[in-house]
Amino acid sequence: MMDLNLEKLKELRNTMKPIPLPEYEGVRFPAFNVIREKGIEKAIQDITEIQSRKSDIMICTYPKSGTHWVYEVTNMLIRNKTDLDTVTKVSTMLEVIPDLSVLDALPSPRLLNTHYSFKYLPMQHIENRCKIIHMIRNPKDVCVSFYYHAKSDTFLDFTGTWDDFFEMWMSDKCPNGSWYNYEKEMEQAEKDFPGMIFNCYFEEMKKDNTGEIQRLANFLGIPCTEKIIENIAETTSFNHMQKNKLDMTEVISGKGFIYRKGEIGDWKNHFTVAQNERFDVQYTERFKDSSYKLSFEQIKET
Ligand code: A3P
Repeated sequence: MMDLNLEKLKELRNTMKPIPLPEYEGVRFPAFNVIREKGIEKAIQDITEIQSRKSDIMICTYPKSGTHWVYEVTNMLIRNKTDLDTVTKVSTMLEVIPDLSVLDALPSPRLLNTHYSFKYLPMQHIENRCKIIHMIRNPKDVCVSFYYHAKSDTFLDFTGTWDDFFEMWMSDKCPNGSWYNYEKEMEQAEKDFPGMIFNCYFEEMKKDNTGEIQRLANFLGIPCTEKIIENIAETTSFNHMQKNKLDMTEVISGKGFIYRKGEIGDWKNHFTVAQNERFDVQYTERFKDSSYKLSFEQIKET
């Protein structure tokens, strides 16, 4: 288990001032400590050079797509346990780890995660065709979820309104870049490396939790009884996780902001009619060739 040194993290967070987000290749990145220290280019380079193990599993998501959720499910499958782990996703989140050699001490299989796009993943992870779990979510709900996260997270330097955040999204200026670019890159990678990437939808996980967990277990090659799958579905339900899972953002900043609502369709409570129309136009334009598109059209109805 990785020593997170919570006291040091808290101290750093309390003394840390928001700064304009560093940019690399036209994308703004969260100003995590490691990036302030090394610079964004070196931080990305260090990640691409991580020594992979063939058994490594990487969770790849655009922020706010349900990363903590799919991390917990996968972690339970790997451990063959159905209780919430005291270890949290952030302990293996590549872009926040100052010295990546700490990963060497982890037992196999290592469950890693990142919001960095496919092209910045560890090169050996791709060369070795290590497993990738990619969760995707209706971008309208991602946008709303990201707005609440950004308001609370000093690493993101955002103090604006919902309308401001919406405009940031529409102009591709959100931290970690454009949702469209991220998802299109992942879709291309799925085609380039058949069988390497497990693709799942936040919405499908909500609607058919046990079915999706079973599909994930099959991808990982982990045999599971129906009972175990049912128990995992129960302990990773939103209500159970919100109540019982350690939220690192609460530990560090005093007020947790990861387990907010966990619902499908909260965008309807935030988007104005005009914003929704503009979003739809951009979505259709930018995603017209995507194979993910059909699923979203189905999802829109729910
Ligand atoms: P909301 O802000 O819409 O509530 P990430 O982990 O990628 O940061 O995503 C966070 C989003 O996933 C939040 O969405 C959060 O509530 C939701 N989430 C976290 N755990 C969940 C769970 N067990 N079931 C459903 N949604 C969950």
